[in-house]
Amino acid sequence: MNTRFLDACRGLPVDRTPVWLMRQAGRYLPAYRRIRSTCSFLELCKTPELAAEVTIQQVDILGVDAAILFSDILIPLEPMGMRFDFVPGPLFEDPVRTIGDVESLRVPSMDEELPFVLETIRILRRELEGRVPLIGFGGAPFTLACYMVEGQGSKGFATVKRMMYSAPEVFAALMDKLATMLVAYLGAQIAAGVQAVQVFDTWGGILSPSDYERHVLPYTARVLSSLDAQVPVIHFVKGAGAMLELVRRAGGDVIGLDWHVSLGRGRDLLGPGTAVQGNLDPTVLYGPRSLIEAEVKRILEENGGRPGHVFNLGHGILPDTPPENAMFMVDCVHRLSDKTGG
Ligand code: CP3
Repeated sequence: MNTRFLDACRGLPVDRTPVWLMRQAGRYLPAYRRIRSTCSFLELCKTPELAAEVTIQQVDILGVDAAILFSDILIPLEPMGMRFDFVPGPLFEDPVRTIGDVESLRVPSMDEELPFVLETIRILRRELEGRVPLIGFGGAPFTLACYMVEGQGSKGFATVKRMMYSAPEVFAALMDKLATMLVAYLGAQIAAGVQAVQVFDTWGGILSPSDYERHVLPYTARVLSSLDAQVPVIHFVKGAGAMLELVRRAGGDVIGLDWHVSLGRGRDLLGPGTAVQGNLDPTVLYGPRSLIEAEVKRILEENGGRPGHVFNLGHGILPDTPPENAMFMVDCVHRLSDKTGG
């Protein structure tokens, strides 16, 4: 078994820096598009054999050190009572706006209402055995709340911020219910066999540090502290370079960094007890090989040989990325960080 990724999450020394890519399955891969052309995205997520195939595909093609479950952060919202589709971005039929809307949301039974997620994990653990660890994931309460209240993606998420300021009790009730759902959902993924968990707070960085501390941190902290301490947790808050100490306080063994903070400075701020993941700007993969190699080298040098670094992009890979550039990036990380002399 390739344990580089799990070792780095735990701050242990590794032979080469482990690397995987957020959103490593997806439209930039022709092999994904072939399978996706036979069904909708939601059908793909709900068909364990296909979801497992797409998960393993990425590992074979890219040569990464971890697999990430093929699913979406919005999947558990459907059994909570939300109706939505991807067109291609998410679009909800009835966004959450009132206390009545929050009260009518249910916390689903994971085994009964999300069995396809757990079955995909079980298939993957069988089929990946001896290769790379499997990462499970969920959205952080705030990022899920953003989509549920807004009803779709947004630039500034003004509707959810309006709720946070003008109806704080409604916002708090929603965050509380999402945290309860996530404790059960991530716990069920761990019980089914995922070997690490990543919590994506894609929109956490749109808040001021004081609003993050007051309105978000307590809920994320409740989720992260509830999880089995044996399983490493990666906590990624995009745009949080100016409030990393709050993100660390919310929890996680590994803190995900985007490219707005230098990896070296992020590590200095977080201190030696916290591992980090990141942080190549995804658009660098549009550039020539010489640039990709130089940027990988720069990030490895900023880390300066400190244990506890998982190489990744600073956000998801973009759908029009040339796949050969992603493969080249993975190869650069392994080659430039090789401590075996090979
Ligand atoms: O990392 C992986 O490869 C695992 C699978 C994964 C997907 N979504 C598959 C997906 C993961 C970890 C996610 C997380 C996710 N989903 C986030 C957090 C991370 C981030 O990128 O910020 C968010 C905000 C979502 C919500 C979401 N799902 C959006 C906004 C969209 C549409 C826009 C887009 O990026 O395509 C999706 C659809 C989605 N999720 C696709 C995939 C492969 C594309 C579906 C398709 O058309 O085939």
